Amino acid sequence: MRNHSQDSELTPAWQQLTAHAKKSSNLLLRDLVAQDGRFEEFSRELDGLCVDFSRCLATAETLEHLQALAIECNLSEQVAAMCAGEISNTTEKRAALHTALRGTATEMPGVAEQVSVELEKFLAYADSVREGEIVAASGQRFRTVINIGIGGSDLGPRLVARALAGPDEPVQVKFVSGVDGIELAQVLANANPADTLFIVCSKTFMTLETCVNALAAREWLVAGGNEKSVAAQFVAISTNDQAMDEFGIAAERRFRIWDWVGGRYSVWSAVGLAAAIAIGSRQFRAFLAGAKTMDEHFLSAPFVENIPMLLGLLGIWQQNFLDAEASVVLPYDQRLENLPDYLQQLFMESQGKLTTAAGDAAIQPTGKALWGASGSHAQHSFAQWLHQGSANVVVDYVGVVRGPDVQVEQGRMLALANMVAQAEILVAGNTADTQLEPHKNQPGNRPSIMLLLQELDAHSLGMLLALYEHRVFVQAVIWGINPFDQWGVELGKQRASQYADALLNGQGDRLPGIGRRILDWGES
Ligand code: F6P
Repeated sequence: MRNHSQDSELTPAWQQLTAHAKKSSNLLLRDLVAQDGRFEEFSRELDGLCVDFSRCLATAETLEHLQALAIECNLSEQVAAMCAGEISNTTEKRAALHTALRGTATEMPGVAEQVSVELEKFLAYADSVREGEIVAASGQRFRTVINIGIGGSDLGPRLVARALAGPDEPVQVKFVSGVDGIELAQVLANANPADTLFIVCSKTFMTLETCVNALAAREWLVAGGNEKSVAAQFVAISTNDQAMDEFGIAAERRFRIWDWVGGRYSVWSAVGLAAAIAIGSRQFRAFLAGAKTMDEHFLSAPFVENIPMLLGLLGIWQQNFLDAEASVVLPYDQRLENLPDYLQQLFMESQGKLTTAAGDAAIQPTGKALWGASGSHAQHSFAQWLHQGSANVVVDYVGVVRGPDVQVEQGRMLALANMVAQAEILVAGNTADTQLEPHKNQPGNRPSIMLLLQELDAHSLGMLLALYEHRVFVQAVIWGINPFDQWGVELGKQRASQYADALLNGQGDRLPGIGRRILDWGES
């Protein structure tokens, strides 16, 4: 990826955006949204997804300048290059081909075929587990599936299973990731070794949390059955054959992933196995098809229609030119409660970079914080801060109009009424009577984007997640950073292993002060 962040500062488009931002400082959102045709001009639709960015402090002129910036940064060419399989992950010298996992065309020889072979294999396995054709060593059908993984090997499948699995699925799918063993113990307390399947999901099979939990699960299974259960009741998704050999994962229970898939972009691969077991192959294929729809739109739609490009560039506008300090994601559908966690990794692991892909210090601020919670819950915890706090924040609201259950129809409309009310109040604020009651002052003029799904199904979820992936990529291109590496987390792993060694061997002299207190209290 070229380093755009340095030259984009000097390019005409960047300068014009800077000047345009100065001119826009007096813009009032309440005036913008009151304009005739504002919603029609500042919203786009694709296959049951309506994206409303009419509540952003942006005008038609802003979009023109953003388009000029995209052209200067060769955005379309870079999108095509990524999907074709060029080395987008420069520090690790790898392609980033998550788009190929959902069948989007790539020029990398052999990739489409490998993806298709592995897809058929893991989906057939998922259905066989659901249908009771593949059984435990006891001969019983699997009732519980436990995915052991962390980060990208947990958050994606966890989100998809939570969002799409119905109440009557034949198998209960659980997720374990924390290193302290508490989650695992809680899940195992309600599991039976005679009908439990473990998925060890780890691209590297070296991640501490996953290895510790997998070994503990193995011990539990052997204690409740015998050594033979391991081959029948453990599957793994990894690139590390040696570690799978050592663990005892049977050859036919291994699913492949490739180095050109980053962890946080991997839910579309066999990393999604737990989700595929939770929802079945038909739905999983629809999930992939939804992502492919978004990929093709991203690759081919002109800028003014291109939803990921528009939203990615509006993010740049709000962050780099209007000084937004954070993004908050609020899904108003409880099935999407894990979306903020998933997006935290996707955005912050991808965009938390100080160095450009060319190795220079980034000149422009890169990714700001992104976090969130279910909208209903947020309203009763941190929404106060959104309305009257002093931070400059952009909100993404995600709503769903139709649901599978007519009985909760009324609840869904209440959720949407709240979502729209929140967004409108962020625009208009509350200045009435505030001379008498200044504590009620809500200044308004606070931007948000609304993503409205006609329904939440596998197809629309695939579209939504691919849209967020592409927003991340668009912004990375503009800043000139590599969104596919995560060197910042490596040092923590090394340091933790030194301290673990010291703590487990009682060597206080190798620990900072608080470490010695841990040792004292641990002994007493
Ligand atoms: O430590 C961060 C990270 O490398 C993530 O990028 C990744 O998703 C996660 O750890 C898990 O990695 P693995 O799948 O190799 O266990």
